[in-house]
Amino acid sequence: MTVPSAGGHPLLSVRDVHVEVRSRGGALEILRGVDLAVDRGETLAVVGESGSGKSFTALTVAGLLPDGATVTSGAVELGGVDLLRLRESQRRAVRGGEIGMVYQDSMTSLNPVMRIGRQVAEALTAHGWSRADARARTVEVLGEVGLPSPERLVRLYPHQLSGGMRQRVLIACAIAPRPKVLIADEPTTALDVTIQQQILELVTGLRDEYGLAVVWITHDLGVVARIADRVAVMYAGRVVEHGATRPLYRAPAHPYTDGLLRSIPTEADAHQQPLPQIGGTPVSVAELPPGCPFGPRCPQHRAMCDEEEPPLLDRAQSRAACWVPREEWTSSVPRAVAGA
Ligand SMILES: Nc1ncnc2c1ncn2[C@@H]1O[C@H](COP(=O)(O)OP(=O)(O)OP(=O)(O)O)[C@@H](O)[C@H]1O
Ligand SMILES: [Mg+2]
Repeated sequence: MTVPSAGGHPLLSVRDVHVEVRSRGGALEILRGVDLAVDRGETLAVVGESGSGKSFTALTVAGLLPDGATVTSGAVELGGVDLLRLRESQRRAVRGGEIGMVYQDSMTSLNPVMRIGRQVAEALTAHGWSRADARARTVEVLGEVGLPSPERLVRLYPHQLSGGMRQRVLIACAIAPRPKVLIADEPTTALDVTIQQQILELVTGLRDEYGLAVVWITHDLGVVARIADRVAVMYAGRVVEHGATRPLYRAPAHPYTDGLLRSIPTEADAHQQPLPQIGGTPVSVAELPPGCPFGPRCPQHRAMCDEEEPPLLDRAQSRAACWVPREEWTSSVPRAVAGA
C-alpha cells in the first residue's frame, strides 16, 4: 500500500532525465528523457528489453554513472532535493546512505578476500558510523535479511556461503545504513527459482516493515505482477508506459507493453503453444527511426507515427507514449494475465 509522503510529492522522482555518453565517435544519448516516481512503502518495477536504459537509469539515480557518461538535463529529486545539483561530497553521503543499491551478480559485488562482517560494516563506516555502532548494526542487519547465526556469519568469507546467502548479504550491505530507497538491478536472475522467490519475499517484507521505496529492475513480467505496485516500461532510453500494475496489465496503453505481456506464458497456454514474440529486434539508440522508436515493430503503426515521437499521454489506466488510443487498436484481444 502506498504511504503518502509529506507535501504530496513522491519520495523519489526522476524527471525528464537525459544522459549522454561521449566517445571518440561523438556523443550518444542513452537516456532520452526518463520520467518515473516511487513513494515510501511502494515497489516500482522497471522493465524493458536489453539495452533500453534500465541500468543507466538506476546508475543515474544512485550517482554512479560510468566515466564518459553525463546527465545533460533533468532532475532526480529525493524528498524534494535535486540530487543532480549536490556537490560530489554531499552526493556521496546520499548514495549508500539514503539510496541503497544491489547489483546483479553477488559473486563480483562482494570482495572474496574480506570477511562478511567487515564488508557490511564498511558500508556503514563509509557513511560516518562509528566502528562500534557499525559492528552492532552489522549483526542486526544480517538477522533482518534472514541469515542464521549472524554472530558466527560475520567471520565467514563469501565463498563459504551459498548464492542465495550472498544475495542476502548484498541486500544487508544496501539496507544497513537504513536508506529510504532500495534499487535492485536484476538481483535474482542468476539464482534458481526458489531462491528468487525468497529474495522477492525478503525485499517485499523490508518494504512493508520499514516503508522502503523499492525500485526493482527486471526482465521478468511474472515477477512484476507479484511484487510491484507500479510499473515503468522502458524502450530506447525512455519510459514509454507508467502506471499501477493491475490496471496496466489488464489494459496496457502502449503496444510494446502489450507485446511484452503477451509473451508471458499463462497457466492455460504454457504447455500448448510457443510464446508469441514481439517482431523485429530492439532498436539501438544509435540508430533511431524517425518518429516513434517502436514504430517499425508496432502492430498498431500508422503513418502519423513516423512524423513525431509521442510524449507520455494520459490514458485510461496509465500514461503512455503512443499516439493511438487502445480503443482504436486493431486486433487487440483481452487477455487474462496470471497473478494480475
Ligand atoms: N559505455 C557505453 N558507451 C556507449 N553506449 C553504452 C555504454 N554502456 C552502455 N551503452 C548502451 O546504453 C544503452 C542502455 O544500456 P543499459 O545498460 O542501461 O541497458 P539495460 O536496459 O540495463 O539492458 P540489460 O537488460 O541488458 O541490462 C544500451 O544500448 C547500451 O548498448
Ligand atoms: Mg541492465
